[in-house]
Amino acid sequence: MHALLHFSVVALAVLLHQSFVWPMRLHGSTTHDHIFARVPSVLRSTDDVELKLEIHTNLTDPSKKYNAYILGNPEQTSKIVQVLQQDGTGYKYVQPANTGSDVPVPITEGFAIPLTTDTTLITLPGWLWNARIWLSENELVFKFTNGGLVQPAPATEVDDNYNVSYGFIELNFYPAGDTNEPTVFVNLSFVDFVGLVLGMAMTYQNGSTEAVPGLYRNALTTVCDGLKSQAQKDNRSWDKMCLQDGDKYIRAISPNMYSSQPPNRDMDDYYTKYIDDVWNAFKTQPLLMDTQDANHTKVPSGPQVSCKVTGEVLDCGADAGQYVKPTTLDVWGCNTGPFVVPPGANEKQKEIIPRLCAAFFRSTLLLDGGSVQPSLPSAKYYTADPTNHYGRLVHEGLQDGRGYAFSYDDVNAGTENVAGVLKASNIQKLSVTLSN
Ligand SMILES: *[C@@H]1O[C@H](CO)[C@@H](O)[C@H](O)[C@H]1NC(C)=O
Ligand SMILES: *[C@@H]1O[C@H](CO)[C@@H](O)[C@H](O)[C@H]1NC(C)=O
Ligand SMILES: *[C@@H]1O[C@H](CO)[C@@H](O)[C@H](O)[C@H]1NC(C)=O
Ligand SMILES: *[C@@H]1O[C@H](CO)[C@@H](O)[C@H](O)[C@H]1NC(C)=O
Ligand SMILES: *[C@@H]1O[C@H](CO)[C@@H](O)[C@H](O)[C@H]1NC(C)=O
Ligand SMILES: *[C@@H]1O[C@H](CO)[C@@H](O)[C@H](O)[C@H]1NC(C)=O
Repeated sequence: MHALLHFSVVALAVLLHQSFVWPMRLHGSTTHDHIFARVPSVLRSTDDVELKLEIHTNLTDPSKKYNAYILGNPEQTSKIVQVLQQDGTGYKYVQPANTGSDVPVPITEGFAIPLTTDTTLITLPGWLWNARIWLSENELVFKFTNGGLVQPAPATEVDDNYNVSYGFIELNFYPAGDTNEPTVFVNLSFVDFVGLVLGMAMTYQNGSTEAVPGLYRNALTTVCDGLKSQAQKDNRSWDKMCLQDGDKYIRAISPNMYSSQPPNRDMDDYYTKYIDDVWNAFKTQPLLMDTQDANHTKVPSGPQVSCKVTGEVLDCGADAGQYVKPTTLDVWGCNTGPFVVPPGANEKQKEIIPRLCAAFFRSTLLLDGGSVQPSLPSAKYYTADPTNHYGRLVHEGLQDGRGYAFSYDDVNAGTENVAGVLKASNIQKLSVTLSN
């Protein structure tokens, strides 16, 4: 029991790092909280810079009520999360009061922004790093403790928000370049779960827009039904990754999230045979890793590093590193075992790790052409079994196929990019659309 608990805490910590989330603590547990420091309550002064955000609701069921919650770090170096609160006709960042409590207590500063009209206009009054725009059906509970913020924990049954439908978009609003251009970087992440149907778009100064449309309106149903039908086919626990409140689908969690939740150990051997087969295959032929790096600029195809399994280790040569055989859990999360980026890693190692994990995650290593990674188009991802059927279903549920199903979904052959990111400076506005 003790060992299991210890493992789950480690797995959770690892998961948190990988999916770029803040501590989502198990209720009452002592999971790490090192990225939050304790500070006195302060109000942040307003900067000259602001970001216009429009949240659109496109509802087929208008009886449902939704809220937005925006949290992030107004100071880049600070790990202190603040919340965006309505202030008269505008908005301000507020540091939730530190209650001095060791156990999480709900944040008392009200910061739900009700989405009562088709379009809600919000102005962010200054920079905001590592932020999340959370949207939820009805209300979410966020908590605060000595260690910092406690966000909804998608896979934890005892979490107050367990039965709430929610989703988020990750946002950075920061000064970039020599002239501190106000820059917005947003992404649609399904690394942990699929929940509410969200899309995003930017409007540039010249009035043109660029969008990552996100999931189809019925995507949660298709993902959940797909997980259930996959479980029928292979008798694995995919169906348990679809979380329901009665008949209502609440969200689909990733196998990484699922496997980090005690006592779920039933998927831990999922890739074992595949990993063995890959290791055997590259004992006799080289695995060529395409760095896609031309003098530190990403190119469709760049210099290759030749790797070979010797003993039990994938050996990519003196400076490109050696990689131990991964486990299934390493592949789900891409940030443990051989996928840990070691301190002081060189460029080649930093390029090989994402490419190797992406190749396992999408099961492309034993396909024709799989001995060069990446080299295959996205149509080949998830076509061999075993594979990450959650990743497959997430991409099938996306209108243009773009969105992060895992942290290295931005690794692709050629000029393709299946990750859902928008980044630009000096934009007119950012739009988020919620559909139901
Ligand atoms: C709202 O939904 C309708 C029907 O699905 C779609 O045609 C329209 O483009 C959507 N609007 C936005 C702003 O996403
Ligand atoms: C998504 O955006 C957030 C906020 O900008 C960033 O911290 C995170 O690294 C991004 N995630 C991925 C998978 O790119
Ligand atoms: C508008 O601005 C964006 C971003 O700078 C640019 O990519 C796009 O080509 C411009 N469109 C037109 C029609 O000028
Ligand atoms: C399905 O898997 C379970 C263990 O997860 C096993 O007990 C059962 O026999 C399997 N059923 C079939 C039909 O393979
Ligand atoms: C979620 O709903 C289920 C019923 O579907 C209920 O048993 C459970 O207590 C609820 N969980 C929370 C945290 O409210
Ligand atoms: C990198 O830069 C060097 C020197 O400018 C050049 O000779 C070389 O061709 C470049 N390599 C690539 C892959 O573009």
